[in-house]
Amino acid sequence: TNISKILGIETSCDDTGCGIVSTDGKLLGEGLFSQQKYHTEFGGIIPPIAKSLHKEHIDNVVNDALKSSSLDISQIDGVAVTVKPGLQLSLAVGVEYAKKLCSQYKKPLIPIHHMEAHALTIRMLEKVDFPFLVLLISGGHSLIAVVKSVDSFLLLGKSYDDAPGEALDKIARRLKVFNLEGMEGLSGGKAIEMLAEQGNYNAFLLGEPLLHQKDCDFSFAGVKNSARQFIIEQEETFSIEGDQVLPTVNDLCASTQFVIAKHLCRRIQRAIAFCQLNQLIPNDKQSLVVSGGVAANKAIKAALWKVCQAYGYSLHVPPPQLCTDNGVMIAWNGAERWIANKGIVSHEQLASVDFQGK
Ligand code: KG4
Ligand code: ZN
Repeated sequence: TNISKILGIETSCDDTGCGIVSTDGKLLGEGLFSQQKYHTEFGGIIPPIAKSLHKEHIDNVVNDALKSSSLDISQIDGVAVTVKPGLQLSLAVGVEYAKKLCSQYKKPLIPIHHMEAHALTIRMLEKVDFPFLVLLISGGHSLIAVVKSVDSFLLLGKSYDDAPGEALDKIARRLKVFNLEGMEGLSGGKAIEMLAEQGNYNAFLLGEPLLHQKDCDFSFAGVKNSARQFIIEQEETFSIEGDQVLPTVNDLCASTQFVIAKHLCRRIQRAIAFCQLNQLIPNDKQSLVVSGGVAANKAIKAALWKVCQAYGYSLHVPPPQLCTDNGVMIAWNGAERWIANKGIVSHEQLASVDFQGK
């Protein structure tokens, strides 16, 4: 039979990831090192620090993946690596590592676009045929696209400013939710989701962004600033100490989550209408894929599910560990490109290709 094995490497941001998958969709091995705790200390990612952490851990992460797959590098058919977009310093670590691996073991290299990998991950797990609609929402991404094929994407909308996870993280920081017992080490989005459960989403009126703009673009800076304004105006009612949470905190979290869900739903509704008008997605296979860290949010998922229901779309969300940055999604995108024979660089060509120069 004609089944190949692809190893994938991801270093575009603050996760060093490696995954090994077969072209028939089996997960064979994986390794992951998250730098998150190093960066939360500084309140953000410092690129040279991210770079040196990638350098320090990439060997172990790749070896973990190989070990867990019980494969030897010689049994791998191709190496996929994220070449863009992301932090240049971080990306370069993975690209250099993959190039060395490929020239040493004479393996073909498959350059991967990080967003495309997020969008295609679901196809490793569920039957989602091209073309489909994808919503990517995380701490760094915010976009809607039509995925036409493994290498053809139509971007329908993106954020003018913050990504939704970024806004949630900053609001959570401002609320000092990480001082609460049990919240240490959680992401801002997850903390807000938990606090929102006891809150009233109508308590604070946060305006829905870009309400009068009839397209698929996003904006989350306004939500972030309005939430901050409420906190500044009512500082004492937002104080958090020990395990004491005042109801206003729960209410602000619920209200914030609600307006973000509403904004996402309205944009997806527009995207669906646009696809219908331009006959981009046939009636018999209308699917919405949602991925990225924010896709783990139950309230947002439930809201998007309602929109899908109303328009006859099916909703597909990868499990959380595949929604966030990881090496498996890079390996899977490599496998899809391998099957379609798209963009594969032989080891003889390696020296003459500028992988990041686009
Ligand atoms: O995909 P990801 O791990 O990293 C990138 O940003 O690329 O996403 C992390 C983001 C963070 O902003 C985090 O606050 C958000 O996803 N997030 C959530 C939830 N879990 C993580 N947002 C809302 N609800 C959640 N349950
Ligand atoms: Zn990502």
